[in-house]
Amino acid sequence: MFHRDLLSITRPRPSDVEGLVYAGGIEENGVIISGEARSPQTGEIYPIKNGYLDLLKERTGANNLANLANFLPGAGRAYEPLWRIHSLNLLTGESFPNEREVELISRLVGLERGGRYLDLGCSSGLYARRLSLALGRRGEVVGIDISPSMLREAARRACKAGAPISLARADAENLPFSDSSFSGVVCGGTLNELGDAARALRESRRVLEPGGRFAVMGILKAQTSPPALGLQRFLSSGGLRFFETGEIRSLLSHAGYTLDTLSVHGTVFFAAAIRR
Ligand SMILES: C[S@@+](CC[C@H](N)C(=O)[O-])C[C@H]1O[C@@H](n2cnc3c(N)ncnc32)[C@H](O)[C@@H]1O
Repeated sequence: MFHRDLLSITRPRPSDVEGLVYAGGIEENGVIISGEARSPQTGEIYPIKNGYLDLLKERTGANNLANLANFLPGAGRAYEPLWRIHSLNLLTGESFPNEREVELISRLVGLERGGRYLDLGCSSGLYARRLSLALGRRGEVVGIDISPSMLREAARRACKAGAPISLARADAENLPFSDSSFSGVVCGGTLNELGDAARALRESRRVLEPGGRFAVMGILKAQTSPPALGLQRFLSSGGLRFFETGEIRSLLSHAGYTLDTLSVHGTVFFAAAIRR
């Protein structure tokens, strides 16, 4: 599912000066359920099927082993019930249910302003669908991910919840959207998985309107616990990256953001930054 009005800001190549156009399919109330979009510049066709617009097609978009794990059959289905509902309790050492996390992210991204929001590396759509339900008619949410398995599950869960999100298979390091097209960007855990986090931050800044907000949750480098250090060393060999708080400050600043808040809960950080 992809809202037809979003095609005009969807530009798969950086050189595209116009957005995509609808090339036919099944549409209900402005939402493309399945069909095709076409680039007026290149004539290239992008399918909308299995619940998302596929802007990567034959490209995986993955650049490390950790990314590929999200492509496994069943990864999408298992992600929320097996990992996501427990993850922050385990990583923070506090009671941190999804409701608390989403409420915090919503505050950090300034959801009360309404408008258009982007979920970077949305997986099965936890942030995207909750933000969409909270926004109602005051705005809309687009979720992007590189994993077909995650996007199919995001579409299934959003339909079940009645959350009218748009989903696209796209790379956070090369965002397929025009400049200044979002009020806010949220990013839950994805920064740890990216090959080039600095580039993704610059891209997120580019698509934010002036004063737009970026809200991120991520995992910090373990400090003392030997088992956690060992696990992080092992995961790092698969391409995951764990940050020091100083690196987060520096990455955000170099990408053109002014840091608003940074809080730490166990090995998890939450930060909000404003587009300079
Ligand atoms: C740790 S999961 C986070 C999921 C979600 N944000 C959440 O809070 O539950 C990271 C997600 O980022 C996706 N991902 C990894 N590299 C990406 C990239 N370059 N562009 C877009 N998504 C990416 C993975 O497929 C995975 O679904």
